Amino acid sequence: MSRTIRAFEPAEIHAGNRGLGNDHDSVAGAVEKLLGRMSLEQKIHEIHGWQPSAIEGLYYAGGDESLGIPSFRMVDGPRGARTGTATAFPVAIARGASFDVALERRVGLAIGLEVAAKGGNVLLAPTINLLRHPGWGRAQETYSEDSFHMGAMASAFIGGAQNHVLTSPKHFAANNLENTRFEMSANMDLRTLHEVYLPHFRRCVQEAGAASIMSSYNQLNGIYCSEDPYLLTEVLRTRWGFKGFVESDWFLGTRSTTESLRAGMDIEMPAAYRRAAEKLKDALEAGEIGEQDIEIAAAHALYQKIAWDLNNLPVPDAGVVECAEHVSLAREVAEKSIVLLKNSPAMLPMADQPGLKLAVVGNLADMVNLGDRGSSMVTSSETTSPLAGIRELVQQAEVVHLAEDADLSVLSEFTAAVIVTGLTYKEEGEFIPTAQIETEQSELARGGDRSDLKLPDSQRDLIRRVTAAAPRTIVVLEGGSAIEVDDWLDDVDALLMAWYPGREGGRAIARVLFGEVNPSGALPVSFPRSASHLMDWDVTALDVQHDLLHGYRYLDQHQHAARFPFGFGLSYTSFKADDLHIERNGSGFLLRVRVINAGDVAGACILQAYVGYPDSAVDRVPKELKQFARVELDSGESASVELPIDDSQLCYFDTGSDDFVLENCGYRFLIGFSADNLPLTAQWNLTDADWQAQDD
Ligand code: BGC
Repeated sequence: MSRTIRAFEPAEIHAGNRGLGNDHDSVAGAVEKLLGRMSLEQKIHEIHGWQPSAIEGLYYAGGDESLGIPSFRMVDGPRGARTGTATAFPVAIARGASFDVALERRVGLAIGLEVAAKGGNVLLAPTINLLRHPGWGRAQETYSEDSFHMGAMASAFIGGAQNHVLTSPKHFAANNLENTRFEMSANMDLRTLHEVYLPHFRRCVQEAGAASIMSSYNQLNGIYCSEDPYLLTEVLRTRWGFKGFVESDWFLGTRSTTESLRAGMDIEMPAAYRRAAEKLKDALEAGEIGEQDIEIAAAHALYQKIAWDLNNLPVPDAGVVECAEHVSLAREVAEKSIVLLKNSPAMLPMADQPGLKLAVVGNLADMVNLGDRGSSMVTSSETTSPLAGIRELVQQAEVVHLAEDADLSVLSEFTAAVIVTGLTYKEEGEFIPTAQIETEQSELARGGDRSDLKLPDSQRDLIRRVTAAAPRTIVVLEGGSAIEVDDWLDDVDALLMAWYPGREGGRAIARVLFGEVNPSGALPVSFPRSASHLMDWDVTALDVQHDLLHGYRYLDQHQHAARFPFGFGLSYTSFKADDLHIERNGSGFLLRVRVINAGDVAGACILQAYVGYPDSAVDRVPKELKQFARVELDSGESASVELPIDDSQLCYFDTGSDDFVLENCGYRFLIGFSADNLPLTAQWNLTDADWQAQDD
């Protein structure tokens, strides 16, 4: 009997999630009572942060000792607790490459626990802005170019983190251009908004019970998101049933006193600029707002304090921070995030044996490279570089480090060279305009978007010099998004994408290179052959038209084959999928596939199910991801993998009826191992509530 492996299991992912299952009526009743005892000043105090800078890493908002109301204590962020030292996990895009929701839940648990141990009670994560273009500076902070994948990973993170603290998925919404983030307007029709840019936020609210949401700096169709009633009230509360609070993004996150309050932006962070008591009182006197508006925002803030019994939220022992369990989790995550993109026969894994003379080349080989230096920066007490990781692992082989200015002609005497190259906080990251000194001494650095996707010239030159001299070359790439590789890919024997792999990344890289770990990551972002195959990308744009197409959807539509497609990743073993069975199951489908590990070693693959829409009467994308599962199998083992797809996932947003509609048309299921490798297909047709399987 082969095992059964199921995709996302909500009950397991959300075990212990304190954001779910509140008795709404009793919480709302308690809020009302409390408000009845509060003065106007006390209510105002609930709807803004305390001060511009963090106090030991914590941003405070609200709270009143005399009334027994705790304050929110907010901490960044997506790759670990940004206060003092903490476990620096691989960045979110790396974790996205694991396609492993159970693992992401454990990351959420660990980060949530460390935040709680540091005295925080709101974690300013996950970042779930869609990677519309891989040049986005904050690509590393998010999981994916795909909304379904993003929603699954983010829901799992919240499921873990909310065992300990409130979370705050951000930035709501369509925040995907960094350099102009404070001003730019993401323009799109309602169909694009509801189908592409919002579904993952909705999943965080409805499935994961996210306790709060951070609004974004940018505008949506010409209205700042922090003062958009459609987004913050109509969609978030009326349609989705959100019960938590919305806090603004930081310094330019609240643009107005009146509009932001009336739109449903509840808490101004990090301090009272637009929400200074005098400004609110002036607005009250001028009749621009009523006391009711302040009360509604205060009620939203108080709601979670009561629902979570915030005064009694356990504070774990400080010893959990960077504890052995979290450190080994950081390594496991890095190992499962690494994506093997090219492997010429017999190159990897390498055998650690006498006679192997390995050059590890490049400055990045010997550097701490954890990601950008914006709000998601985490400092760990110790970080293992790739060079240190290799030296620690290797017993027999000879390992020599060559810096970039070394004489590389010596490489002809080596068996192989491993180049560690890629990007750093200098090339990409959150844009911090107040700290533009890009020196090693400055903690916060400029970051920003990449206007092209190539490696820096110095790194391409390094690859050229190494491949000219070394008999064999392995490239380990670090970075937070897609990188163009076409001008050098043919010259190298193996290529690994290691992302920004966290404090244990060097060990993970070494273990993959030497076969202690079989790589199993898959790309959560398409790597195009050339940036010219993607949409126009202007990092200075102030008005950006969005539509249904980006990433693999755009490449499909324009018939550009990706260099490495979405969902792609190699392994040291090989997998086969066959025996597709599809059945109707309640209001959806259950897809069953047999997956076999046909190679000699244990490994894992990412099984993916996409749906296309033949005969649709509306413009649909060629296909889109609707389910996935990470399948771990011993050599020779097979498993039955179950991929549920609900009818609601097949709908399009109809602007006429202002709702999602299940169309009478064909639905083509495509299953396989990447967006460009989907060998199993089947079609079902819908006619007036009647589903029929079509013979192929
Ligand atoms: C970022 C947020 C972050 C906040 C607090 C802002 O500039 O956009 O993601 O949580 O700062 O550090």
